This record gives sequence, C-alpha cells and structure tokens, in this order.
Amino acid sequence: MSKPRILVARSVFPETIARLQAHFDVETNQDDRGWSKAELIDKLKDKQGAFTTGSERIDAEVLAACPELKICANMAVGYNNFDVDAMTAKGVLATNAPDVLTETTADFGFALLMATARRITESEHFLRAGKWQKWSYDMFAGAEVHGSTLGIIGMGRIGQGIAKRGAHGFGMKVVYHNRSRLDAALEAECKAAYVGKEELLKTADHVVLVVPYSAASHHTIGAPELAMMKPTATLVNIARGGIVDDVALAAALRDKRIAAAGLDVFEGEPKVHPDLLTVPNVVLTPHIASATIPTRRAMADLAADNLIGFLVHGKPLTPLNPAVLGGK
Ligand code: GLV
Repeated sequence: MSKPRILVARSVFPETIARLQAHFDVETNQDDRGWSKAELIDKLKDKQGAFTTGSERIDAEVLAACPELKICANMAVGYNNFDVDAMTAKGVLATNAPDVLTETTADFGFALLMATARRITESEHFLRAGKWQKWSYDMFAGAEVHGSTLGIIGMGRIGQGIAKRGAHGFGMKVVYHNRSRLDAALEAECKAAYVGKEELLKTADHVVLVVPYSAASHHTIGAPELAMMKPTATLVNIARGGIVDDVALAAALRDKRIAAAGLDVFEGEPKVHPDLLTVPNVVLTPHIASATIPTRRAMADLAADNLIGFLVHGKPLTPLNPAVLGGK
C-alpha cells in the first residue's frame, strides 16, 4: 500500500524528517525557501497532510485547491495562520503544539521584561558605541522589577508561568485579565488577582501580553490603552503581532508616554515598523520566545506525532477541531 503524502512546509530537524519518512512520502523544504501562496498550493494539492509553522496561511482558498488534505499540524501553540472554521467545514483536522513550550516561553517573557525594565540592550548599545566615559548615579536608571505590580493580559498556561515567576521569584503583586477568570485554586497557585482590563492598565508597572490573536484581540493595546498606562510602565508583547498597534506604540515610546517596551512579535513580521527601529526605549527580538533546541525539538516531535497519530492510527494528540474526527 502506498504511504500517505505529506508536505513539511519549512526547514526542521533532520531527525523529524527521518521520523516522518518512516510513515509518509515526504516533500520537504529544507532550503527554507519562502513560498508564495500559489507555490504552497502547488506543493500541497496532492498531499494528505501538512507540517506547518505559523508562517503558512491555511485558508478557504488553499483548502479548495487541496481536496486530498486531511490534516495540518502546526509546530506552534498559536494557530492564527489557520482558518479553523474553514478547515472544519472541509473536514480538515487542525492541530497545534501546546504545553511543550510553556515554561521556555514564560522564561523568555520574563527575560524580555527584565531586559526592558532594566534597559539592558539600550545600555549595551551605548557601551559598544564607545560612549561610556564615566559612571554616573542615574546612568540607565530603569524600573524596579521586584516588588512591583505585574499585569498579565491573557492568563493561559504561559501567562500563568509568568505570573508564578513574578509572584514567587520576584515578590511581585500580580494582577491579570482574561476572557474567563481562573478557578480559585489556580489563582492561589499563581498568587494572581483578577481585574478589569482598564484597572490592570492603570495600575500595573509592567504589562505582559500573552493573549492569542483573533479578530477580537486585534489591537488589544492601541492608543487609548497606552494612554491609560503609567508613564513609568513597560509593555511586553510575546503573544502575536497585531495584538499591539505598533504605530501607536512607537509614538507612545517616542513621546515617553510609557517608559519602554519589549517586543518579540510584530504586525506584518518579519517586517518591523520603521518607527520602532528608531526609538531607543524598546527591546526587539525576532519571534524567539520558544527558541531553545530542546523545546523546538519537542514542538517538532508533537507536530510529527499529530501527523502520525492521525494519518496512521486515527488518533491525533492535540486536535483543535475534534468535531472533524467524528466523521473520519
Ligand atoms: C509561537 O509563536 C507559537 O505560537 O508557538
């Protein structure tokens, strides 16, 4: 019997490809060429499965052109590159890679918060540029982290990880806002208090965004929200580009309406809005919050396990639209 055909849309670990090859006919992209939508469709149109990352948009147009497709397995916890409703309507399973990146991503969120509050990259640029002539009492004075108020918007697993680091490691007072309130036991574990979004923005010294992207969360932070924040506050976005209005943020940073921002994700990435590149009080990283080799391996393994689980054994591990399974 011939093996199912799958497409691995981006470069991944050779070991992941080898695992997949044991079960499937695999077309790879180990040169990591950026495909246009037409190229993606051309490569996917005769495949039953796709190994995707957040970069490949799977929408109604792609689905209409790929009638054999049964599953798209994302090597990412976020899945806003999938039109899940269109996938469900076409009977195509969507899977993501939750849990395996939670702690690593929470570590990074905290690293970005620390770097932003304590002006690490700005001061390093100053030093590298040969501008450091003498010590002075207020040179690169930043914001306190320990004992300050941490506001988390989006209290899923990663948000909870950041809350625990802040509350238990740094003695921070933690407030959070989320679509739904955590149960009391989880709130106690995270030492976090539920507040409205406006109260959070007005009271937090550091605001961290970990909310999934959707039409409803587009520009969760725009000019009105930035205006509510303290002028001494920092903003950290490790969620998705589009959660923050980058133009409004660059203006707020330029005018010192907030103190600083740390951004791992951008609207229209990998392009970064030029205004963000010209303000000094922002720490910029290229969407690397889950980037450690063990974690990226675990994410790749989970995406591969979903493909094998579903196409070979009929049992995916982390389905996003399990309704599809009923009909298979
Ligand atoms: C990364 O952004 C992910 O969603 O896993």
